[in-house]
This record gives sequence, structure tokens and C-alpha cells, in this order.
Amino acid sequence: MAAGGEKIDYVFKVVLIGDSAVGKSQILARFARNEFSLDSKATIGVEFQTRTLVIQHKSVKAQIWDTAGQERYRAVTSAYYRGAVGALLVYDVTKRQTFDHIPRWLEELRSHADKNIVIMLVGNKTDLEDQRAVPTEDAKEFAEKENLFFLETSALEATNVEAAFMTVLSEIF
Ligand code: GTP
Ligand code: MG
Repeated sequence: MAAGGEKIDYVFKVVLIGDSAVGKSQILARFARNEFSLDSKATIGVEFQTRTLVIQHKSVKAQIWDTAGQERYRAVTSAYYRGAVGALLVYDVTKRQTFDHIPRWLEELRSHADKNIVIMLVGNKTDLEDQRAVPTEDAKEFAEKENLFFLETSALEATNVEAAFMTVLSEIF
């Protein structure tokens, strides 16, 4: 029982990973508080936020962890992944390099996380369509090959952010 008499049936830890500046923290701000900021600062260490949702008549507390994409600011890797049941693997659709680094992130994830972790590949910043550098098809193909869920999002426009988390949380459930 939480302080407000709110009953929690499950707590699910979900981690955000991907290169710096792809929008991990803003995806989290959108999901947890329905907020967005264009002058978001690089994350240092680890932060987390929670949001409680109802899935199939059960109250699920999503505990979303966010760390720095920049190596020097990153949290202790093993602790970050410990207990995680879901992951959002994020790249920026306008920066090819962030997509090219996805296999590395996936390798880190697979070597540290539980083997049953649910993984969603997320191409963020679809509002910048005129600057797109990663075709949807390329990411879709990669996701199919690696058995990942895949969605493109815009934290700025609030497109698919909810769907990305809900897909992962429902699948864990
Ligand atoms: P690190 O903490 O360094 O790993 O970066 P991050 O992945 O958390 O990136 P962050 O969320 O701080 O966003 C980086 C920049 O991209 C900020 O200026 C955001 O406002 C911007 N941004 C994030 N999401 C979107 C989006 O969907 N569209 C647009 N246009 N900009 C976005
Ligand atoms: Mg961040």
C-alpha cells in the first residue's frame, strides 16, 4: 500500500539507452509528466521517474531509468540494468551515427540484462522529417532481424511515446 492508499500490483523497471542527445530524457519527461523542453541538459549519472498505470485491471508502477549517453557521465553499467524487465533503445532519425551505434547498445544490453528483457527500438524526432537520415525501412529491417519491437516517436509532438512504453509494459505483463 502506498501512502495515498493506492495499491500497486506490480513494479516494472524499464531502462532507456542510446547515444547522447537522441532524446531519452525528453521521452521520459513526456511519458512521466507530459512535459517537453527544447533546452534539455545532458544527463549526468542516473535519474528515474515513475508513472502508475492500469493494465488489464492491475495497477502497474513503471519505474523508468535514464542515464547519460556520454560515456564519461554514465552510471555503473551492471547496476543500471539490474532487475530491468524492459528497455527502450533510442536513436535519432536525423543522425545516422546514432542508428549505426545501435548494435553496440544492443550488445551491452544483452550482456548485462536478463535474457527475457522486452526491447523496443525507438527512432525519435520524427517531427524533423525534412532532416531525416535514417529510413524507416532500415530500422524496421534491423528490428525484425534482432527480434525487437520498433516504433518511431516524437517527444516534442508527443507522437508514439505512450505507445512505445505501453507496448513494452503490456508485453512484460
Ligand atoms: P543524454 O542525456 O546526453 O544522453 O541525452 P538524451 O538522449 O537524454 O537527450 P535529451 O532528451 O536531453 O534531448 C537532446 C536534445 O534533443 C534536446 O535539445 C531536446 O529538446 C531535443 N529533443 C528530444 N526529443 C526531441 C524530439 O522528439 N524532437 C525534437 N525536435 N527535438 C527533440
Ligand atoms: Mg538525458
